[in-house]
Amino acid sequence: MINQETKEKILEAARIEEVIGEFVVLRKRGSNLLGVCPFHNERTPSFTVSPAKGFFKCFGCGKAGDSVTFIMEHEHLSFPEALRYLANKYNIEIAEEAPSAEMIEAQSNRESLFAMTEFAKNFFRDYLWSNEEGIAIGLSYFRERGFTDEIIRRFDLGFAPDKWDGLTKSALDNGFKLEFLDKTGLTIINEQKQYDRFRGRVVFPISSLTGRVIAFGARILKTDPKSPKYLNSPETEIYHKSRSLYGISLAKKDIIAKDVCYLVEGYTDVVSLHQAGIENVVASSGTSLTVEQIRLIGRYTKNITVLYDGDAAGIKASIRGIDLILEEGMNVRVVLFPQGEDPDSFSRKVSTVELLEFLEKSAVDFITFKTKLLLSETAGDPIKKAGLIRDIVDTIAKVPDAIGRAAYLRQTSTLMEMSETVLLTELNKILRAKIAKQQGAQGTQPTQSYQRPKNLDAGPPELVPDGEEIILNDIEKQAQEDEIIHDELNTSNQEEELIRILLNYADLDFVIPGTEPEHPSAPIPTVKVKNFIIGEISEDGIHFSNEFYAGILAEFSTLVEQQQQYEAQSFVQGLEETLKATAISLLTTRYELASWEEKGIIVKAEKDHLDKAVIDAIVYIKKKQLDKFLYELQREIKERVVENIEVDDLLEKYNRFLLIKIELNKMTNTVIQK
Ligand code: CTP
Ligand code: MN
Repeated sequence: MINQETKEKILEAARIEEVIGEFVVLRKRGSNLLGVCPFHNERTPSFTVSPAKGFFKCFGCGKAGDSVTFIMEHEHLSFPEALRYLANKYNIEIAEEAPSAEMIEAQSNRESLFAMTEFAKNFFRDYLWSNEEGIAIGLSYFRERGFTDEIIRRFDLGFAPDKWDGLTKSALDNGFKLEFLDKTGLTIINEQKQYDRFRGRVVFPISSLTGRVIAFGARILKTDPKSPKYLNSPETEIYHKSRSLYGISLAKKDIIAKDVCYLVEGYTDVVSLHQAGIENVVASSGTSLTVEQIRLIGRYTKNITVLYDGDAAGIKASIRGIDLILEEGMNVRVVLFPQGEDPDSFSRKVSTVELLEFLEKSAVDFITFKTKLLLSETAGDPIKKAGLIRDIVDTIAKVPDAIGRAAYLRQTSTLMEMSETVLLTELNKILRAKIAKQQGAQGTQPTQSYQRPKNLDAGPPELVPDGEEIILNDIEKQAQEDEIIHDELNTSNQEEELIRILLNYADLDFVIPGTEPEHPSAPIPTVKVKNFIIGEISEDGIHFSNEFYAGILAEFSTLVEQQQQYEAQSFVQGLEETLKATAISLLTTRYELASWEEKGIIVKAEKDHLDKAVIDAIVYIKKKQLDKFLYELQREIKERVVENIEVDDLLEKYNRFLLIKIELNKMTNTVIQK
């Protein structure tokens, strides 16, 4: 049992933002941090971490706690296991008290399984590097495949001896119980005998998110039609195929940094891409892609690029993957490799630069992918073309967010030279069928009307050309709903972000993306952050709703009008007393972040991406403003529908606003997220 003093030491050392930062991408929001909750499925972040208080709380699902609770919940560990995890992370030596018998019992099972897989990993690895058979057969196989020694070590690759009891005997000799060899699937036991599952194969250890070995994949070396090429560990208490991704523990850092995850089919693809310098890559090896695996990636990025073979099976797998990824509200692109190549073979034929260029150039969105794939078959055949369009619209219907659907629809319309209205009618047909099916499944009567979406982005199509879907719901509910909507349309988060940027960077110069110099030789014109923001806000007549942010904004407006320089300290001193605290807290978060960076927490160097930060902040507030307009229009439309008045002019206006919003979405690359 861990003694009290150690417990306190651990709790003192654990900084919640560091502990959670390893699993959740956190962005600063005032003095707190905000991220997408790992405990429930959400698209808009509501998971808040308070470094000052040492707590986390999710406003979506209600989960809350401290560092230890987080690790317990997230890693499915017991209290002492979580403490051990943290002690390990912070290099704290554990002083133990003599454990009670029940303690040993309770703790031993999972830990024993991990100890067992760890032992097996070391056994296979040592066999590969130190045993004659291992070197001659296993190591030389990897080297012939082109794997470097460094990469073989990084992935802890190994070799399972061609014997019935290689690992089993060694484990028993080392005091491991047969029970754990059985429970980890390493030894197969039946009435007559017990024997190693993996024999005469090279071994790829599979790790959990935190890098503990949970299972193995093993490849045969000789061609033997009677044995499968790859053998994998079975499902165990510590290995759930559908929730594991090969390579995730080595990839997660780079997935966050690159903001995209490459998804490949197998072990060798992951290893080879690493060797080529691409580390943001994982494989769903052994199974076809699952929703849980997509959500796992979704904790680190919303962008997945699928890299599959160009053969028929690869294409089929890509198509299935696309729909699943879109349904999770994530962005997907596809790279098809030339016929006969997979990422592994291809990456060994070209240089890293060429590989990256290939990935960049050949990654296409799903509409282009499907169109290219199927258009050749449909050449000149209108019926087949219609089939293709239906196929694409079917996929678009899987996108959970209405704005994203509208954007994809528009792209399809251009690409297929087909009117948007026709496509929209088709899409609405599918969506209506889906809603009816869901309602049917819930045992309620399918109805003509639908529940008004709480979230403007999330619902079924507001934009139905024939207007039949726009039917008013229960008027009593309206007031309640209005309150929720009012909260959602509140712009104070966006206001805070703009003020934070102003306070921290007001006098820095940046280039508005897309700006061209006057002559080719002239420098690209820049603009000061404060001039740009104040200009944009006054031009669009945006009013801040939060009085503190409005007050600080007014001071900045004066500064810009009088063309004065900005200096943080004197600016804050000049503020009214009531505004000072707000300003200081928005200024200080930045300094805290600097020290986190040293501790290895990944924070984007915002200063180096000022253009993105500023444009995003402006676009977000404009989007919120548009949401308000859209919402008001919706209400007006509904009122008119009830009174049986023509709504065409409003629908037209609604359409226009929606298109503006789509444009704004494009600017922040958040086509399908909010
Ligand atoms: N794979 C698998 N089970 C199989 C075949 C393949 O799990 N029966 C996975 C493996 O993860 C493998 C990936 O798919 O890394 C690629 O398959 P393949 O190219 O057939 O395997 P390689 O080991 O690369 O074989 P080869 O040297 O013939 O290319
Ligand atoms: Mn291969």
